[in-house]
Amino acid sequence: MKRQSIVAANWKMNGDLALVEEMANGLNSLELKDHQTVLINTPAPYLTALSSALTHDQIKVGAQNLNENEKGAFTGEISALMLNDLAVQYVVLGHSERRSIYGETSELVAKKVAHALNNGLVPVLCIGESLEEREGGQTEASLEAQLAPVIAEIGIEKFVDVVVAYEPVWAIGTGKTASAAMAQETHEWIRSYLAAQNADVAQTVPLLYGGSVNAATAQELFAQPDIDGGLVGGASLKVEEFKNICLAV
Ligand code: PGA
Repeated sequence: MKRQSIVAANWKMNGDLALVEEMANGLNSLELKDHQTVLINTPAPYLTALSSALTHDQIKVGAQNLNENEKGAFTGEISALMLNDLAVQYVVLGHSERRSIYGETSELVAKKVAHALNNGLVPVLCIGESLEEREGGQTEASLEAQLAPVIAEIGIEKFVDVVVAYEPVWAIGTGKTASAAMAQETHEWIRSYLAAQNADVAQTVPLLYGGSVNAATAQELFAQPDIDGGLVGGASLKVEEFKNICLAV
């Protein structure tokens, strides 16, 4: 079975309308493989402009967060229903910056994942260990602590509609990409952890690697058997570089 492969951009709080135009113009004529999707997660104010500017069937837009409630007195928050209104299909959840800067716990992330799925959105669930955890031999324990609450909340069967992004925190924005072998080893562990609950489901889940991915490292990373694409931050703000990463699948 050929798993869906996804190259996802994470603009974080960067970009402007000029980049929206430039990115759409640069990507609209891209020749992608049949099983490939490109996903661009922009700040919420740019979602509509980007959707309108994109003409490529295999290029989708996504948000970077949502609130776990349907609606109400939550000033500054964005609901799943609002993303539905904009025909947004994907949402990044549990990014390490949301966890570390905004105090999102794995239990809250699990609620957000459930809420996204209940509203027809595909969650891109981010998990990753810190440098301290990696060096202390706690990588698997850390990943398990981030995955288990989500499995408990939604049930393993629902993972057929989830994308998982493994992003070692020490590799994000630091220029220190995990080696392809190290990333593959961890991806293999994540897939086997999911497979212990349901082997068929584990085979369908796209596992993306994130953390300083660039055009020079993408090809070797994406060639690994359990790496189904990437979540790309800094390099996704440069049109030519991001195009080359998309073509590395
Ligand atoms: P980076 O960010 O590619 O700039 O390391 C990745 C991410 O945070 O998703």
